[in-house]
Amino acid sequence: MKGVILAGGLGTRLRPLTKVINKSILPVYNKPLIYYPILTLRETGIKDILIISGPEHAGQFLDLLASGKELGVNLSYDIQEEPKGIAHGLAVAEDFADNGRVALILGDNIFEDSLVKAVQDFEKQEKGAKIIIKQMPNPERFGVVKLRGNKIVDIIEKPKRPPSNWMVTGFYLYDSRVFDMIRKLKPSGRGEYEITDLNNLYLKEGTLTYQKIKGRWIDAGTFDSLLEANNFVAKKFNHEIFSKNQRKKYFPKNKKRGRKSFYLAL
Ligand code: G1P
Repeated sequence: MKGVILAGGLGTRLRPLTKVINKSILPVYNKPLIYYPILTLRETGIKDILIISGPEHAGQFLDLLASGKELGVNLSYDIQEEPKGIAHGLAVAEDFADNGRVALILGDNIFEDSLVKAVQDFEKQEKGAKIIIKQMPNPERFGVVKLRGNKIVDIIEKPKRPPSNWMVTGFYLYDSRVFDMIRKLKPSGRGEYEITDLNNLYLKEGTLTYQKIKGRWIDAGTFDSLLEANNFVAKKFNHEIFSKNQRKKYFPKNKKRGRKSFYLAL
């Protein structure tokens, strides 16, 4: 399976930080933001990755990442000419996907959890799509799932009154029909080809599966969430490089969190 990272959009919520620098290149502790989605994909075994960005800052990705060899991945680059939504951006990857399945991850999403199992389960799934959902205190900022028992019955984009606190994260797995599905979409009220509409097409077909995650998830697209991402990675990183005694001394409140993550994997 190939991977696609969508790093489009103008990052207007982060101006003036994003005036000359793409959002996904902003620092998150010791790495540019886009390293995290790259490492999330790499951990699942996906190494052929297409980075799609807008025309404004596209050259910055090539300057920063080049072939991807240093990170142990093979990178390609393409352009989303206009910021018309996530599904519109994914459509750019049709030739790259070469009639195979694709994993899509948003360029500002940081996952603490490993997504290896989701990818493995999806590889066994005959057809369809898979989303990753997480409980968040402010689901109205995101795509939100409506659940009946264990079954997703609807996904609503940025609902005023969220039907649950389970939101849809920016990691999606699609079968090779995804580009035909995107062609069926119509622009939403805000003029975008919504990823939520695409997921709802699979849902109606009965082929959308999901996995829940419990670990930290951050989309670093606002000042506060970017700061949160920096603090989270710093804490996690320090936890992993210091000995137990040093941790006790310098970070008395740090609790042990899960297995070793990819934060030191470079
Ligand atoms: C997008 C999607 C939304 C999803 C979110 C995850 O929102 O439209 O469904 O929950 O990414 O990061 P946006 O970040 O474009 O507001």
